[in-house]
Amino acid sequence: MIDLPSHLGESPRRILITGGAGFIGGALVRRLLRYSNSIVFNLDKCSYASDLTGIKEVLADLGSEADKRYQLLRVDLVDAEATKECVRKADPDLVMHLAAESHVDRSIDAPNVFLESNVIGSFNLLQAVRLHWEALSKDRKASFRFHHISTDEVFGSLGNAGRFNESSPYDPRSPYSATKAASDHLVSAWHHTYGLPVVLTNCSNNYGPWQFPEKLIPVVILKAVEGELIPLYGDGANVRDWLHVEDHVDALILAATKGELGSTYCIGGFGERTNKQVVESICRFLDERLSLKNSCFSLITKVPDRPGHDKRYAIDPKRIITELGWKPCFEFEAGLAKTVDWYLANIDWCTYIRNKANYFGERIGLT
Ligand code: NAD
Ligand code: DAU
Repeated sequence: MIDLPSHLGESPRRILITGGAGFIGGALVRRLLRYSNSIVFNLDKCSYASDLTGIKEVLADLGSEADKRYQLLRVDLVDAEATKECVRKADPDLVMHLAAESHVDRSIDAPNVFLESNVIGSFNLLQAVRLHWEALSKDRKASFRFHHISTDEVFGSLGNAGRFNESSPYDPRSPYSATKAASDHLVSAWHHTYGLPVVLTNCSNNYGPWQFPEKLIPVVILKAVEGELIPLYGDGANVRDWLHVEDHVDALILAATKGELGSTYCIGGFGERTNKQVVESICRFLDERLSLKNSCFSLITKVPDRPGHDKRYAIDPKRIITELGWKPCFEFEAGLAKTVDWYLANIDWCTYIRNKANYFGERIGLT
């Protein structure tokens, strides 16, 4: 884990995080509360994918000092006036923009929601932040930053060879990735046209605790525990480049505080696996931990493929490693085993969040 306070400066900084009630934003908020003296504003519309349990646990652990440094601002970025008011209230030195609709399968069923949140929402935030930044004092203006958090999916789909890097051309192929690409372009345009000091990062697939059980790893764990069929899309040969969420948080803090303005950093953890390999590793860990009558392997079932399913993602993270000194700490199978243990110990939370969202792992995203 990186030495956080030295990267955030000695004096408390006001940090506005959007999407802090989500999986990655939550990990970032918890890290900043625990390991910095920053004042953290969490702007989130609190959607089906949101949960504040992890943040509440950290606040309870740290006591009133941390309470005073944290505020939830329940706002939808689609509401331009409310967004402006939020930015005015937070009066930030740093904005880290993670809020987005994030699930590819949902973007196939309801692309409009993705356009609203990821494109209009990002536009509203940029406008609000630009107003704020232009009115800052000279000193604060000089150190202000807007960090946009994006995905490797904007670069499209790789064949068997090669990896994405900062020069890869944009080629989004799902409604989700098209809206993320649009938001990347907006951020870049606000830098070139208005001079807004921005940094962008594009990361590969994250895994770890508190991920909403619609994404591959928690879906597989819960299906297996419940003895239900484990759905493997297509032939299971699609490749993702997995990164533990805490390694992503390390990279985000480095990029936000030390990254070159107007620049992009690609983040990935050398964790390429086929979906079949990921599912089989989870089954192996579960077989070792649970005394089930039948092996979880017997539940693995090939199901119709995701429409437009990207074949392979892989990141070359050379730039952030050499220029910012980032290094992923988690080896994939070790991180996955820990994640399986976390879900087994937090089945009650899974039940709670699935009931709250009224989503129980049914197949979505088939045209
Ligand atoms: P998530 O779905 O778990 O959380 C997203 C959060 O954003 C939710 O709490 C949601 O309520 C909030 N949000 C969405 N639309 C909003 C709006 N209009 N106004 C206010 N809040 C809104 O997503 P995540 O996995 O934590 O991803 C966070 C960011 O990181 C996203 O921008 C995503 O594109 C990017 N990313 C994710 C991954 C991954 O593997 N999960 C990898 C690379 C990049
Ligand atoms: O690459 C970064 C992206 O990773 C992020 O930008 C997205 O927000 C995040 O959701 C993730 O997108 P993916 O589509 O890669 O993640 P998902 O967990 O949905 O699927 C991972 C792979 O597993 C993908 O190839 C589809 C497959 N899959 C998924 C599910 C839910 C299955 O085979 N079965 C399943 O049940």
